[in-house]
Amino acid sequence: MKLLVTGGAGYIGAVVARRLRDEGHAILLIDDLSTGHRAAASGFELVVGDCGDRRLVGALMKEKRIEGVIHLAASALVSESVADPAKYYRNNLERSLALLGEMREAGVARLVLSSTAAVYGEPVALPIQEDHPTQPTNPYGETKLALERALRWMHAARGMDFVALRYFNAAGASADGALGEVHDPETHLVPNVLKAAAGGSPVPIYGTDYATPDGTAVRDYIHVEDIAEAHVLAVERLSRRGGALTVNLGNGAGFSVLQVIEAARRVTGRDLPTRPMPRRPGDPETLVASSALAGRELGWAPRTTDLDAIIETAWRFARTHPRGFED
Ligand SMILES: NC(=O)c1ccc[n+]([C@@H]2O[C@H](COP(=O)([O-])OP(=O)(O)OC[C@H]3O[C@@H](n4cnc5c(N)ncnc54)[C@H](O)[C@@H]3O)[C@@H](O)[C@H]2O)c1
Repeated sequence: MKLLVTGGAGYIGAVVARRLRDEGHAILLIDDLSTGHRAAASGFELVVGDCGDRRLVGALMKEKRIEGVIHLAASALVSESVADPAKYYRNNLERSLALLGEMREAGVARLVLSSTAAVYGEPVALPIQEDHPTQPTNPYGETKLALERALRWMHAARGMDFVALRYFNAAGASADGALGEVHDPETHLVPNVLKAAAGGSPVPIYGTDYATPDGTAVRDYIHVEDIAEAHVLAVERLSRRGGALTVNLGNGAGFSVLQVIEAARRVTGRDLPTRPMPRRPGDPETLVASSALAGRELGWAPRTTDLDAIIETAWRFARTHPRGFED
């Protein structure tokens, strides 16, 4: 299929684009490079621009005969979304609705959406299933949920088939070590732990008094290549039978902050200084997904589930890219 990948120069988008191309799809990337990197898109046709720019996107859809959209472009920092909600409504909702409008104009009716565990908010039951209440605690989760809902209504109006993938915590790097996570600021635990291992400042541990076995928060780390595989299966499903599907993508197991740090010590063989900090407001104690529905509906199962194995891939990337991407 001829696919437009928005956010294709980002951490997850670059790995997804490569995996889809390996599967035989023709890929066009659009990215405004607000948090992405040109180097991550190397070897791909990249249009630098806003995925909500109707003129640009409308022309691309028609000229390039796009048949489906993989929509990863978004602002994705929870704390920033709390400080600047308007940015998140604009970038994650308004621009996405503009993209959907242009898809409609061009008769493109297949979309895979990068959604998030943040749509659930504070969990009331674990592991989290897709029918868990959705009560986001920040504008990031709220805008993703609003977009999911818009897609559902559009599907009901027979305008759009979609698969929304609710990723939990993406982690790791591509198996060949070429693509990995480079954000500034970096808010994710694994790259920050590895920065500390490489000689950076101590790793802050936000909250050491949670009711978890070791007192630190538990998250579900899902390898980026497993996320990419789910996109391949989602595209297959859309081309075979269309429909509307929303599924979690998680590892099936939760790991605490201290477990991640211990694993990073084992993998890197380095000492890892830590700094206990107060809890961050709105940070749930435990977030662990049930991915049973993705198994049933997409035939998906995570492959790299071992924490050390996930961190090994990220460490390989960190060592070969000490200054991130050179662009
Ligand atoms: N990283 C995670 O753990 C995680 C978890 C759940 C969901 N997600 C979602 O996955 C997607 C990718 O996340 P990521 O971690 O790779 O983040 P990222 O910041 O690395 O990638 C996002 C990409 O989108 C681009 N972008 C942003 N706004 C754009 C716009 N209006 N037009 C064109 N390009 C734009 C950025 O430049 C960047 O390359 C996001 O939608 C995010 O919400 C990520």
